[in-house]
Amino acid sequence: MYIVQIASECAPVIKAGGLGDVVYALSRELEIQGNTVEIILPMYDCMRYDHIWGLHDAYRDLSVPWYGGAVHCSVYCGWVHGRLCFFIEPHSQDNFFHRGCYYGCDDDNMRFAFFSKAALEFLHRSNKRPDVIHCHDWQTGLVPVMLFEIYKYHGMEYQRVCYTIHNFKHQGIAGAEILQATGLNQEAYYFQYERLRDNFNPFAINMMKGGIIYSNHVTTVSPHHAWEARFTDIGYGLGHTLHSFQYKFKGVLNGIDYDVWNPESDRYIPGHYSKDNLAEKALNKKALRARLLLRDVDKPLICYIGRLDDQKGVHLVHHAIYHSLFKDAQFVLLGSATGAKINAQFQHEKRFLNDNSDVHLELGFNEELSHLIYAGADMIVVPSNYEPCGLTQMIGFRYGTVPIVRGVGGLINTVFDRDYDQTKSPEKRNGYVFYESNYQALESAMDRAIGLWYDYPEEFRKLVVQGMEYDYSWNIPGAEYLDIYDYIRHKWSEVIA
Ligand code: ADP
Ligand code: GLC
Repeated sequence: MYIVQIASECAPVIKAGGLGDVVYALSRELEIQGNTVEIILPMYDCMRYDHIWGLHDAYRDLSVPWYGGAVHCSVYCGWVHGRLCFFIEPHSQDNFFHRGCYYGCDDDNMRFAFFSKAALEFLHRSNKRPDVIHCHDWQTGLVPVMLFEIYKYHGMEYQRVCYTIHNFKHQGIAGAEILQATGLNQEAYYFQYERLRDNFNPFAINMMKGGIIYSNHVTTVSPHHAWEARFTDIGYGLGHTLHSFQYKFKGVLNGIDYDVWNPESDRYIPGHYSKDNLAEKALNKKALRARLLLRDVDKPLICYIGRLDDQKGVHLVHHAIYHSLFKDAQFVLLGSATGAKINAQFQHEKRFLNDNSDVHLELGFNEELSHLIYAGADMIVVPSNYEPCGLTQMIGFRYGTVPIVRGVGGLINTVFDRDYDQTKSPEKRNGYVFYESNYQALESAMDRAIGLWYDYPEEFRKLVVQGMEYDYSWNIPGAEYLDIYDYIRHKWSEVIA
């Protein structure tokens, strides 16, 4: 099968979080399972060019219809660790992707509506006719809309779309100008409730809603989150839309790339190990402590790796630091703050805490350090408010780092409480789960984990191995996506619009 992914991230060249990991690793798995995959991305000025091989121009003057005129673009092509990627670079003076950041600009809606349009125009002009277009999150919600309403009439009537939602919080809610810009010209038609009109704001369109309605199949990134999105407020107003289209909506649990995340061969860690020989994990703990100037003492080391955003339960992350110190454990945080307020709060904590030789806060994005932390820590906390899938607990399993998580979204589908889980036998349990989003609940899970580490080290080691025995690679989810692609190609090709 020939599959084209259209997305705003692809690790490691463009990565703000898990979306980048998924786009890269899913593409790789689909190729391993015998398919051809290409990836279309924006050409951001701040992406990691050192991870692209053989960058050259693939299409010199792509004229993208825009506001009745055209924006001229170049499309570059190169390999990102073996994946063939196309990067779209507008020529206009105010280049949408020369902003020094991936997201967070006032005109993000316009930037990614343009990207969606340009990606389709590129497929059209270069005569690429994938069997399936797989697009991701609100940034590409307009892809299936424009495919069905515009490009279908330009020889792209056989292309099918799978749309994956990684985060319902950001939906691309915008004004009518997006319709004018992209050539979706009949405002009254698109503003119907059955089409793009936002479910709450009658004067706005919702790109993610458009993505749901116009795609042949919609997924989110774990089965439990698929339920939450339909039946709780975590769908951020799209629950009703998902209900109406439940026949084409399901949760497919993400995986992680088992080559990128592999303690047996990871080039960013000094000690290589596996579930059958854990000895060298201690070397990584030592190296991590040396690098972050922590004391080398007989204490468990707990970590947090992730964006510092309301979604992640930052108040609990903050509490976990102090509770670790209180319980005689060390704590390492690697966090990238998206908002100014949370950033200021953690900068303050950092100044205050980094003199303490049992804690280290590292603010910013650092891929290489993240590997050493996963490998060196004993436990990882993931106290999210909501978590569509979550990759850090899966990476934790891979590196023998026991997760302590809040029981929401994909965390429920992957972590099974050592003491309380009723669905797994004791030898299949792999971490700690708490449910309420408060200090007491977090503390009780942390206390159980820290207690086991101190009092029953052999039992703790067993728990580590039980986690490492789980297979959270892309092998199974990759095949599940292929089934979906197959289904929409051969059996279900209608779009209700
Ligand atoms: P989300 O996509 O919501 O941010 P995930 O758990 O799905 O959360 O994925 C997070 C990914 O980003 C993981 O690969 C994690 O290691 C990585 N990551 C998050 N924050 C940082 C950071 N500050 N530095 C390095 N890697 C990070
Ligand atoms: C989103 C979600 C996260 C998920 C990731 C990859 O960023 O917040 O839970 O793991 O996408 O699908």
